Amino acid sequence: MLFRNRFLLLLALAALLAFVSLSLQFFHLIPVSTPKNGMSSKSRKRIMPDPVTEPPVTDPVYEALLYCNIPSVAERSMEGHAPHHFKLVSVHVFIRHGDRYPLYVIPKTKRPEIDCTLVANRKPYHPKLEAFVSHMSKGSGASFESPLNSLPLYPNHPLCEMGELTQTGVVQHLQNGQLLRDIYLKKHKLLPNDWSADQLYLETTGKSRTLQSGLALLYGFLPDFDWKKIYFRHQPSALFCSGSCYCPVRNQYLEKEQRRQYLLRLKNSQLEKTYGEMAKIVDVPTKQLRAANPIDSMLCHFCHNVSFPCTRNGCVDMEHFKVIKTHQIEDERERREKKLYLGYSLLGAHPILNQTIGRMQRATEGRKEELFALYSAHDVTLSPVLSALGLSEARFPRFAARLIFELWQDREKPSEHSVRILYNGVDVTFHTSFCQDHHKRSPKPMCPLENLVRFVKRDMFVALGGSGTNYYDACHREGF
Ligand SMILES: *[C@@H]1O[C@H](CO)[C@@H](O)[C@H](O)[C@H]1NC(C)=O
Ligand SMILES: *[C@@H]1O[C@H](CO)[C@@H](O)[C@H](O)[C@H]1NC(C)=O
Repeated sequence: MLFRNRFLLLLALAALLAFVSLSLQFFHLIPVSTPKNGMSSKSRKRIMPDPVTEPPVTDPVYEALLYCNIPSVAERSMEGHAPHHFKLVSVHVFIRHGDRYPLYVIPKTKRPEIDCTLVANRKPYHPKLEAFVSHMSKGSGASFESPLNSLPLYPNHPLCEMGELTQTGVVQHLQNGQLLRDIYLKKHKLLPNDWSADQLYLETTGKSRTLQSGLALLYGFLPDFDWKKIYFRHQPSALFCSGSCYCPVRNQYLEKEQRRQYLLRLKNSQLEKTYGEMAKIVDVPTKQLRAANPIDSMLCHFCHNVSFPCTRNGCVDMEHFKVIKTHQIEDERERREKKLYLGYSLLGAHPILNQTIGRMQRATEGRKEELFALYSAHDVTLSPVLSALGLSEARFPRFAARLIFELWQDREKPSEHSVRILYNGVDVTFHTSFCQDHHKRSPKPMCPLENLVRFVKRDMFVALGGSGTNYYDACHREGF
């Protein structure tokens, strides 16, 4: 209970900080009826929910702001917190790429004018931005597994291309890198001074935004970014499932989950009405508008403080945005309840979690390779991992989200190794399904590595409810 309260309090604190540093009034997208003198008492209530008495109220605009993750004040984080007699052994970092341009356009409207070049006199800024650009422009093709070497190493278009990382996205990951450097390198000396290429394990999907996000994070992280010591592997699958991607039962879970999503949408008449109105504004059939996933574009307008698009027939507006965003939140809630996504996630996340425990176990044997692993990925990567770990209350991965596994050794009992799990700087170790009850029985502030290993090797499959006790059997269950 103590941990849970601390977790909620931290969340509330982070929320307050984010809100104070970024008053909604900045956004001219918000109707002017917002009171001029700060927040109304109603919205204040929403921002600081009383963790004990008030159920958390989800405000779509507030949730969207968290999703944008606009760089502001240095954030508080709990990475690297451990008693003195613990030694940091290895760190495994999963990131979502930073802020990007939309992947879709709203039909028949002008796309938002966002500049994807990196310049010092534009916000948000980071002191390492210029050095990053100059270092990247001297990039070395030998640092990447094919086909990554054909990708640009930093964003560089005066009008962003679809899906391109923005300056905000680069700054988010320079900041992540710097934060991790202060904790893991300066404080805990994870890497020796003469570190070499084998001490890093780097993997990214084949999109420019993930490669560039990974590079920005490393540039903020490493004391000397030397191209000769960087080697990024290419991961073709967004699930990072490498050679174990074939899993028919996982696909069946996904189909059922998509069916659930579809039925929920049909039930929401306000959502249907909103799509109808928006379709009229842009003058295309509702179906076509929905297929263009307008919320993706609208979030870009929102995060970049660019007005929503207008046509002769009117404007897309904040009310449309709120209805769609509210539906997304509702969808996530039902998704947690119905557990189809959990089935998908347990199978989808198994290969990458299995790889991670393999890397951890090698480190416990004293091997000095792959002490820092970075997987530069997508929301569709982080979401299943979070869900599989049982972190159902975790928010949908925001831009530049980070999920970290830390491996520690107790110097007083060198054969004992423990893990901590952190999501966006919050310690969620005791919210995972494999360590939920541990702290009630043990005073240790972390989870035994064996718990995680047992979970990945066995309990993940038990949780699926079938008779399968390994990945292959669980993926090929008959009559599911
Ligand atoms: C948002 O845009 C409006 C109008 O273009 C401007 O007045 C305001 O300062 C902008 N806010 C931020 C945070 O850039
Ligand atoms: C799990 O990892 C081990 C090595 O650590 C490997 O031999 C095995 O094939 C992996 N299983 C899956 C399903 O990825």
